[in-house]
Amino acid sequence: MRNRQQDNLVWVFGYGSLIYRPDFAYLERCPASVLGWERRFWQGSHDHRGVPDSPGRVVTLVPVKGGRCDGVAYLVDHDVFEYLDHREKNGYSRLNLELQFGDGQVVEGVVYVADENNFAYLGPAELEEIAGHIKGSSGPSGSNADYLLHLAEALREMNVQDRHVFALEALLRAD
Ligand code: SIN
Repeated sequence: MRNRQQDNLVWVFGYGSLIYRPDFAYLERCPASVLGWERRFWQGSHDHRGVPDSPGRVVTLVPVKGGRCDGVAYLVDHDVFEYLDHREKNGYSRLNLELQFGDGQVVEGVVYVADENNFAYLGPAELEEIAGHIKGSSGPSGSNADYLLHLAEALREMNVQDRHVFALEALLRAD
């Protein structure tokens, strides 16, 4: 039974670094999707993959009619938000969205989304420009290129197709 919020447990959906670096306690981890949203490297990172004077580019979710983002759902104790809110503090807000599991079950879960009104938002750009930006950025958590490459690798391991991420990966590797 996936709906366990009564036990102070909450589902959190990860679609970026939360997929490949889950450095927090969780009780379950399963593939899941959110419908009507897509992953984009449109958010600035001043604290992980860039610095305030030279922010990197990391993913956020953008609403897309008919879109879908595949990622990972974690079942966590509510206390974990103290850590996650700090980790995702650079412009992300918690949204409650429906998470869909592979067996068709749907539960409400928390998703960290950085919308266009946050101070660190960078927005869309040509893929070549985004790839060049990622290539030239790094911050306290490591290089921006590693963020993209780890994410692409994790998505591939899950058999997830993401044209935006894989196109950026190809541009980065070709350079
Ligand atoms: C996420 O992974 O769900 C949020 C974005 C990030 O931390 O990379």
